[in-house]
Amino acid sequence: MTIKKIGLLGAGTMGQGIAWAFAAAGKEVILYDIKQEFCDRALNAIGKSLEKSEQKGRVPAGTKAAVVSKIIPTGKFEDLADADFIVECVFENMDVKKDVYTRLDALLKPEVIISTNTSSLPITEIAAFTKRADKVVGMHFFNPANVMKLVEVIPCLQTSEATLDVVTALSAEIGKTPVRVKEGPGFVVNRILVPAINEGSQILYENLATAADIDTAMKLGAGWPMGPLELCDLVGADIALAVMNTLYGETGDPKYRPSTLLKQQVRAGWLGRKTGKGFFQY
Ligand code: CAA
Repeated sequence: MTIKKIGLLGAGTMGQGIAWAFAAAGKEVILYDIKQEFCDRALNAIGKSLEKSEQKGRVPAGTKAAVVSKIIPTGKFEDLADADFIVECVFENMDVKKDVYTRLDALLKPEVIISTNTSSLPITEIAAFTKRADKVVGMHFFNPANVMKLVEVIPCLQTSEATLDVVTALSAEIGKTPVRVKEGPGFVVNRILVPAINEGSQILYENLATAADIDTAMKLGAGWPMGPLELCDLVGADIALAVMNTLYGETGDPKYRPSTLLKQQVRAGWLGRKTGKGFFQY
């Protein structure tokens, strides 16, 4: 199966990075969001970032033009109709997913695989919204998705082996390393990483160290590229909280209970880089 055209739903932080990753690998990307301006903004951000990289000589001249020209922003759902493969990264809410999957199922060619980048919702339930549940699969990227090499490939109960093979090959084709993980809350990375972010938040809540010192401790004491609080600001406190709620809700294990401060940050709208304030100011 040749996959040339990727239909990407959701132009938020992850959608932006994933669009960039596919476009950089030469794929055409139809980037859809409910408002065209969200897609334009994402494309603009990609362009600016690549411009800087070109100026610094980190990427060859012409990379920006090549990548940006591969991404077609749209606010029209029907523009996804001739996609060969879908990556869905819309809002992490089951009602929103239900609406999107029902419409996608009706719109797409029957052979098209729909992958979801969800990090907190059960893929088995998402797949059941469609009549092609064997072609629904988790394809979990990591932030920043244009940089991080891992893709978790997650079969849900209904996913076929053929679908898994396609997603695994496609991940490798765009320069990522796929790992196969059975469907379980948090998969591998988030099950380990997000509780660590949560613990960083709780340590701050208990006033045991400053935010900067918590991060310095993990960078210099454990070799992390970023401290847990800076990482939370990159990922988004809302996403981190959604993952903690999934881990807690699905397992019932109190070791996963979300930190009070993390909940407060979300209530305050201090989500991190995307809102200009999180544990740190941007
Ligand atoms: N967006 C886009 N590109 C970015 C970026 C961002 N926010 N931050 C850095 N980059 C790019 C730079 O442009 C640079 O690319 P080029 O070399 O091609 O120009 C590259 O990343 C390296 O950048 P730097 O050398 O300036 O930065 P660094 O060495 O400090 O590395 C990092 C930055 C890769 C983000 C590194 O700090 C890191 O690995 N951090 C941890 C990230 C992580 O854990 N991600 C997983 C989060 S969990 C998740 O995403 C899943 C979920 O569902 C919650």
